Amino acid sequence: MVLDKEMIAEIKNSVNIVEVIGEAVSLSKAGRNYLGLCPFHKEKTPSFNVIEDRQFFHCFGCGKSGDVFKFIEEYRQVSFLESVKIIAERSGITLQLETPSLKTKQVHPHQNLFDIHQDAAKFYHAVLMTTRIGQSARDYLYQRGLTDDMITYFNIGLAPDESDYLYQSLKANYPEETIADSGLFNIAEQTGTVYDAFRNRIMFPLTDDQGRTVAFSGRIWTEQADSDRQEAKYKNSRSTLIFNKSYELYHLDKAKAVISKQHEVYVMEGFMDVIAAYRAGTANAVASMGTALTAEHISHLKKFTKKVILTYDGDRAGQNAIAKALELLKDLSVEIVRIPNQMDPDEFSQQNSPEELQNLLVNSRISSAEFLIQHLKPENTDNLQSEIAYVEQIAKIIAQTPSITAQNTYINIVADLLPDFDYLQIEQAVNSERLAERSQLRQNQTSQTPVQTVNLPLSKRLTALVKTESQLLHRLLHHDYLLSEYRNKEEFSFETEELEALYQIVKKQGEITDLDLAQMTDHLRQVYYQMLEENLPDDIAPGEIADLENKRARLLKEQELQRQSKRIRESSNHGDVDDALKALENLIAQKRQME
Ligand code: UTP
Ligand code: MN
Repeated sequence: MVLDKEMIAEIKNSVNIVEVIGEAVSLSKAGRNYLGLCPFHKEKTPSFNVIEDRQFFHCFGCGKSGDVFKFIEEYRQVSFLESVKIIAERSGITLQLETPSLKTKQVHPHQNLFDIHQDAAKFYHAVLMTTRIGQSARDYLYQRGLTDDMITYFNIGLAPDESDYLYQSLKANYPEETIADSGLFNIAEQTGTVYDAFRNRIMFPLTDDQGRTVAFSGRIWTEQADSDRQEAKYKNSRSTLIFNKSYELYHLDKAKAVISKQHEVYVMEGFMDVIAAYRAGTANAVASMGTALTAEHISHLKKFTKKVILTYDGDRAGQNAIAKALELLKDLSVEIVRIPNQMDPDEFSQQNSPEELQNLLVNSRISSAEFLIQHLKPENTDNLQSEIAYVEQIAKIIAQTPSITAQNTYINIVADLLPDFDYLQIEQAVNSERLAERSQLRQNQTSQTPVQTVNLPLSKRLTALVKTESQLLHRLLHHDYLLSEYRNKEEFSFETEELEALYQIVKKQGEITDLDLAQMTDHLRQVYYQMLEENLPDDIAPGEIADLENKRARLLKEQELQRQSKRIRESSNHGDVDDALKALENLIAQKRQME
């Protein structure tokens, strides 16, 4: 059986979405729909709807929506194809996925590099677990709080203290090119002799988010090596075709399932911090491997969650890194855990206990505003000048906090920190920031062309035009005769970009298939489901389409007038009196026409 459009539809029809979701989310019947707590974001009151009639789900809280495949994709973090397989299996439909495109199994162009890393990781792990020198290295790890289970889970290894042990054991199995490109070896320029890049180090395999080992980091562990040469504590593989240090995050492959389930990720500095967190019961921590969190790291994380808990070291470097990271994390939700006494999470756990680390991670998070209030505080509060500078900086941040209660709390904290300022003075600074921001916002709004842009989830603030057009498209999708009529209106198009994109598909094939849906951007798919959700009776009422058309025409006209008034405002601002007058005349004429 080939996986084509019909097959996918058959698989989808073989289940009831209410039952599938019901296994993961506790649903109760509410009118014609089912309601539950959204599994994709944290909420206390249910806003997650499953619409049985139309076999899709929609959450009013976070905006996620889709059909049963989409649910499986999101909930289990799998691909579309994988979700189809899961549903098929559930219904006992056997799938032969030998479709032409899949028959020739795609071999990754860098498969050799992945393989050699996997072999190397196995090799290092075996050295750690089975040799005599491995025994002392394990003792070192035990003394740092690791158990054999944790060593296995993190696949930790040991590079022997030999110049080419790894090379000798792998060279027969790989072409020279792979050896040279892997980053696991150094090759002497003159003689061509190959040396292992890592020697006498405890080896942490670094994986991509698919769990493939793509690099290593090796830690010095013997005192002798420590004092011998001034070598870096951790030595990392160089960048290779499969390893970009600015993109990969330690432990993301194993953490990602927990990250999606808990909707948040802890970002720490080091390997040992992630390991300490795991030991304490926090499995959704990753490490940026040092303090430099890059924009690439962030876009990588965004594939899995919208919330980051920064848990960098408590020392100055760690705290400065948090402040820097906050600028990059602007469109994510962020909390901060401050580790006391300049410690890192691992040291905190050692000095106190894993339970206390867990408690700190869960219960002592602060907002980014609270963090900045502490972090930016001038060291010397005798200096009025630096106090003023601080208040100005902090007032901006407080003014951006949406909750008024939180704003009051912050103002109180700042007032307590500063000897020369009281609550009212700081409140005033915040208020004037807020005013400045608002007028800035208004200016931006009027200087934008009022082109229709939907930014879903918009359920609550759909503009009239989008709503009207949604309804029209809904009718076109479900009433063939109407669609044929519109197909003949060559000049017709939707003003709302997304609806127009959907209309083009409907116009071409009369429907929107699951394959189309799978290929859409999340945003477009949301617009589609939002359109489906228009609560319309099955039959078109007499005059309904004409009404929709008239309403649409009127709204478009209004939009055009808005654009013109804006043009007039701009011309007169620029002193183009003639232009402004001409445009004004035009505008008046059109308004008359409309009356
Ligand atoms: P830390 O110096 O805080 O190390 O660097 P750590 O994680 O606490 O390690 P232990 O407890 O001393 O074993 C944090 C992270 O920065 C990267 C590593 O990823 C490390 O885990 N780092 C550090 C390097 O890449 N190279 C170095 O020389 C040092
Ligand atoms: Mn550290």
